[in-house]
Amino acid sequence: MAKKLLITGGAGFIGSHVVRLFVNRYPQYEIYNLDKLTYAGNLENLRDIEGRDNYHFVKGDINDSEFLYSLFDTHRFHGVIHLAAESHVDRSIHNPIDFALTNVIGTVNLLNAFRRYCDQDHGRFYHISTDEVYGDLHMEDPSFTETTPYHPNSPYSASKAASDHFVRAYHATYGLPAVISNCSNNYGSHQFPEKLIPLMIHNISHRKPLPVYGKGENVRDWLWVEDHARAIDTVFHHGRLGETYNIGGNNEWKNIDLVHKLCEIMDRKLNRDAGESASLISYVTDRAGHDFRYAIDATKIKEELGWTPSVSFDEGFEKTIDWYLENEVWLGHVTSGAYLRYYESMYSGR
Ligand code: NAD
Ligand code: TYD
Repeated sequence: MAKKLLITGGAGFIGSHVVRLFVNRYPQYEIYNLDKLTYAGNLENLRDIEGRDNYHFVKGDINDSEFLYSLFDTHRFHGVIHLAAESHVDRSIHNPIDFALTNVIGTVNLLNAFRRYCDQDHGRFYHISTDEVYGDLHMEDPSFTETTPYHPNSPYSASKAASDHFVRAYHATYGLPAVISNCSNNYGSHQFPEKLIPLMIHNISHRKPLPVYGKGENVRDWLWVEDHARAIDTVFHHGRLGETYNIGGNNEWKNIDLVHKLCEIMDRKLNRDAGESASLISYVTDRAGHDFRYAIDATKIKEELGWTPSVSFDEGFEKTIDWYLENEVWLGHVTSGAYLRYYESMYSGR
């Protein structure tokens, strides 16, 4: 009988890449994608695989424990890859409660359901987390390793840190077979355009201002989303239970340098004069509590599990920009109606 695997948050940015990879690579699994379809979830992201025999979509909320118990009672999932979350730092500053509910309580609900109804001897619960739980770094600090103490600064990272602790506690207390990974910033196709890269691409296309927070000096470590999906496949199948794996691209960029690089590429691709897109850059009020720098040391996953990124940043970035330019319909869909109204009301005045 096919093993049943539950992927939560599969209609979102990273989740849709993970679902696609698993549906294509593992016909021996029945993949169940559980997603509430919040503003960030979009079934358009999975149009290409929606008719596949080994793929099933379930609309539901991980905050609803009764619903989860009934789902797990029916399917007895062999494994869970948990990506469902509220994921945007700026939103967490405006509305922390949603982050506490979905990221913390939702994760505990899933852990309880897995513990009650799953084959714990052979299955595993894989929790997808972020490097933001470690806090931030100065320029001269070494990158985050798996033993860096947690020091979350935003409501988002605090909620992810809390959920990581719950997963670890369920492993220690109940012997729940669990593994965690903490990844750096992802870039790639299908990312909701409230995050830096798709937002900037969208605004450059429409000749709208490019809001750079503060002085643009903050540093992020960027990884191509499909390489993250490959890393998730590797950790799910080969990671040691009870362990944490850091995932990153060893690819640090100051925000302003990244935006300038994007502007140059977009000028070329859109046949605009050199410097035209960069003239849209607008320095705006900094994010409250803005973490200065994130950087991941991915030695453990490389040496222990043999994972490395498959593309250079230049290659992944070009592919990403091309995808957004070729998928204006997708971008138009997610930036229309309620999404855009919410977004613009939140950022008006910036
Ligand atoms: P996203 O916001 O694009 O997608 C989140 C998905 O979760 C959406 O489809 C949404 O509908 C779903 N969801 C939200 N609340 C839900 C609920 N209560 N019940 C069921 N589904 C719900 O997020 P993403 O960027 O794809 O991130 C996925 C995971 O990876 C998150 O756990 C995030 O913390 C983690 N992560 C993200 C990054 C990054 O750069 N984006 C980096 C490291 C880790
Ligand atoms: P973001 O994509 O929101 O990811 P995170 O906050 O999780 O790292 O932001 C990436 C960086 O870009 C972060 O330092 C904040 C900055 N930023 C801007 O300067 N302007 C923007 O409009 C956005 C969305 C982000």
